[in-house]
Amino acid sequence: MKVLVIGSGGREHALAWRLAQGNRVSRVYVAPGNGGTATDSRYTCIDITEPAALREWAQKEKIALTVVGPEGPLAAGVVDEFRSHGMRIFGPTKAAAQLESSKAFSKDFMKRHKIPTAAYETFSDAAAAHAYVDTKGAPIVVKADGLAAGKGVVVATTVAEAHEAIDFMLLDNKLGVAHNDGGARVVIEEFLQGEEASFIVMCDGKNVTALATSQDHKRLLDGDQGPNTGGMGAYSPAPVVTAEVHARAMREIILPTIRGMEKDGIPYTGFLYAGLMIDAQGHPKTLEFNCRMGDPETQPIMMRLKSDLFEVMWHATDGTLDQIELQWDRHTALGVVMAAHGYPLSPRKGDRISGIPPEAPDAVVFHAGTSLDSGELRTSGGRVLCVTVLADSVKLAQQRAYEVASKIHFDGAQYRKDIGHRAVHVRGG
Ligand code: AMP
Ligand code: GLY
Repeated sequence: MKVLVIGSGGREHALAWRLAQGNRVSRVYVAPGNGGTATDSRYTCIDITEPAALREWAQKEKIALTVVGPEGPLAAGVVDEFRSHGMRIFGPTKAAAQLESSKAFSKDFMKRHKIPTAAYETFSDAAAAHAYVDTKGAPIVVKADGLAAGKGVVVATTVAEAHEAIDFMLLDNKLGVAHNDGGARVVIEEFLQGEEASFIVMCDGKNVTALATSQDHKRLLDGDQGPNTGGMGAYSPAPVVTAEVHARAMREIILPTIRGMEKDGIPYTGFLYAGLMIDAQGHPKTLEFNCRMGDPETQPIMMRLKSDLFEVMWHATDGTLDQIELQWDRHTALGVVMAAHGYPLSPRKGDRISGIPPEAPDAVVFHAGTSLDSGELRTSGGRVLCVTVLADSVKLAQQRAYEVASKIHFDGAQYRKDIGHRAVHVRGG
């Protein structure tokens, strides 16, 4: 059977890598893919991104299953497009993807269905937003309502910073994002304290299967300093998600979300990623929903998945996820992102990459912002590679990942040296 993965990042490389190992999979296509999928004979890259054109190509090619990686094509309705032509695709419809594409939609949804999240108000009028900040004080969080590629959230430690964010997002609409009715809108919410974790599940509209737990490192620099990024590294499992936190997240957040979407007439299919903030008492609240897997969380999660991902996806698109149980490798998986010079503000492109070691059972280098340029591998985006390993402990995984990373070279490469630090402390190494 032929499989299509939509996207070009490290997440898509990892999904394609795992799908290619499926017993019934004859070929994995990636649209558009990256330098890693272009140079590996297990994959074929397809240079089509527009949903209708992609669906037409997939129909002609007799693609049996399509998996969508990023939020962009989901919000653009790629799932609706494929389904309306009877094609099997794993992901949420455009309406369901609003859980990520509109902060106001997801916050209103959570309020209506009593799903724990930070208290908030929604504003399209700047004066009202400023007045609200003045009554609430700082710290306070200002979020643009719309897909803003990770740049739409300002955690303001002072009132002045919050006012500035409102002007930036609302008055001047500098991000240029529009919510579904057009125009700019912001959500202003209570600041939550605690430790974050990524809680990712697969849904078939009714049934839910949780993936292995994971934690991401959003800040650019060691010790969780510096600007926010798309994610500089991740590992699985995440010890902060104890069995009790896991049960609470399922009971209080995931299941009410799936039931709520069903009740609202928008059944949810696809990956659902709840960004959790877990307080000192182990109570999880929802920071945000993503309607896709995390990047770089996918890379370590796929390293640990032992089940045949194609068969899992087949069940997920048949509405029979209740018939399977996912198998996980007991080892720790850890991924270190190597980013380009200037990331996240202005990543430089075109640096030549060398020294990537061949794949090993315990170490895979997934590509993201790479491209093949006259036969040479070069940087082409902010997050370039994700060195992903499996080991007996977090500490050993760190050693192995950094040993591999040290062999890889491109000018200006930057990466954190402390991925997994929270888990090292929890487990005493
Ligand atoms: P989001 O895109 O909503 O996940 O926000 C990006 C990051 O901002 C999160 O990963 C958190 O680190 C932080 N953040 C978002 N909302 C809050 C909140 N209510 N309280 C504290 N930190 C937050
Ligand atoms: N790593 C965070 C995200 O994928 O949203």
